[in-house]
Amino acid sequence: MSDGAAIVGRVRVLPADITFDVREGETVFRAAIRHGLRWPTICGGDGECGVCHIVVEDGADVLVERSAAESARLALGVEAGEPSARLACRTQVQGSATVRRRGVRERTAERALHTRPGPPTG
Ligand code: FES
Repeated sequence: MSDGAAIVGRVRVLPADITFDVREGETVFRAAIRHGLRWPTICGGDGECGVCHIVVEDGADVLVERSAAESARLALGVEAGEPSARLACRTQVQGSATVRRRGVRERTAERALHTRPGPPTG
């Protein structure tokens, strides 16, 4: 995907309350990574682990429909039975949506938590 791809959507993620845009052909997961966010995953966005799951709170009508493979993967996970659950790595948006996923955060905050102070200077 080129950097000049059109912006077709906008996603707000709760409870961190982070909002980012989504380009044409991009999934929620890929857009979040492009924006430098940390998003829970094991498979890295390949649709295999189910860890990236989200619950759609608003804007379900602007999401591209679930594929059979996505539905099958969701049926195996912790969100099985939740009708508004999706895999972030398989969900494209064409409009504005609000989703819920704990653990999404800025990578800079994550780094700050794990960064030790350097040696004294001066
Ligand atoms: S990141 Fe593994 S299923 Fe989405």
